[in-house]
Amino acid sequence: MSTPSIQLRTGYKMPLVGLGTWKSTKGQVQSAVECAIECGYRHIDGAWIYQNEGEVGKGIAKMIKENKVKREDLFITSKLWNIFHNPELVRPAVMKSLEKLGLDYLDLYLIHNPCGEKYISDEEQFPKGPDGAPLYDDVDYVQTWKAMEELQKEGLVRSIGISNFNQYQIDRILKECSILPAVNQFEIHPYFTQNDLVNFCKSKGIVVTAFSQFGSPDRPWATPNDPVLLEDPGLVEIAKRLKKTVAQIILRYFIQRKVVVIPKSVTSERIKSNIQVFDFELSQKDMDAVSSANRDYRISTWIWIAGHKYYPYRQNYSE
Ligand SMILES: NC(=O)c1ccc[n+]([C@@H]2O[C@H](COP(=O)([O-])OP(=O)(O)OC[C@H]3O[C@@H](n4cnc5c(N)ncnc54)[C@H](OP(=O)(O)O)[C@@H]3O)[C@@H](O)[C@H]2O)c1
Repeated sequence: MSTPSIQLRTGYKMPLVGLGTWKSTKGQVQSAVECAIECGYRHIDGAWIYQNEGEVGKGIAKMIKENKVKREDLFITSKLWNIFHNPELVRPAVMKSLEKLGLDYLDLYLIHNPCGEKYISDEEQFPKGPDGAPLYDDVDYVQTWKAMEELQKEGLVRSIGISNFNQYQIDRILKECSILPAVNQFEIHPYFTQNDLVNFCKSKGIVVTAFSQFGSPDRPWATPNDPVLLEDPGLVEIAKRLKKTVAQIILRYFIQRKVVVIPKSVTSERIKSNIQVFDFELSQKDMDAVSSANRDYRISTWIWIAGHKYYPYRQNYSE
């Protein structure tokens, strides 16, 4: 069984639906990965900072051992965390993820965020000084990218990309680097459609992956007063009319826009239904209705790095 995919500039194919794994706890994530592979997922989105790559790897290994899937049919993503931005730390960082995952190559490796943070130890993932202030490292993300290029040349990763980069930052990579990003992964959902950045990436041959496409209802900083995307009346109306779930309407909306989705779930019924999005189509009217829900509502502000030289979400950015 193969899920529809999109071709990257490296020639490799990336399945349009993957399983997100942020916040999926140890004890939950292995069975989520196994369930996803059983349901037909071939794409798993992870990251070193999620601190669960060991369990993700166990799920992958079990499915391969039981002949449910072959390694070459899987598309596994990890991300370089902020404390590993110094070029000499990039290769050791990917090796740590590969070891945890039990793999000898990644399909995609992303710089998680353009902002570096000071490396103290692997345990200090959000390093702070004695005054409690975050310790930034202003290593230029272009230098980090050049170290990422070496990983691709060496075959440790098949494609490299970025995450949470703004247009100015992407432009610098395009102008100053030799291997161009295959993917940019950033927050996109019907309350934050980010049309300009999506169109910019597409115009440069960069495939877009939407994260938090359901509005990340389990994000740790959610408050009871926040808008709940999965309960949006306009989306509920479309879902009822088409006899689908709101989640399926959102996923289908992005797939029709050729945007890759990586819904996170540890619930088997949801994992299963989140990939059942290839047997129906949204009309242009319904696509427009989903787009009109946009309210430029950003959920992931990465607030602790807001003072960083390369913080990507400042207005009129030019660093
Ligand atoms: N690059 C980055 O900086 C970055 C940032 C954020 C996220 N990501 C990636 O993107 C993935 C997805 O984003 P996210 O985790 O923020 O949130 P999300 O996928 O928007 O939402 C996940 C939440 O939705 C629930 N859910 C899943 N399917 C559902 C369904 N069919 N009906 C109702 N609820 C459903 C999940 O519940 P249960 O799990 O309880 O089923 C969970 O609470 C992450 O897991 C991660 O891999 C990347």
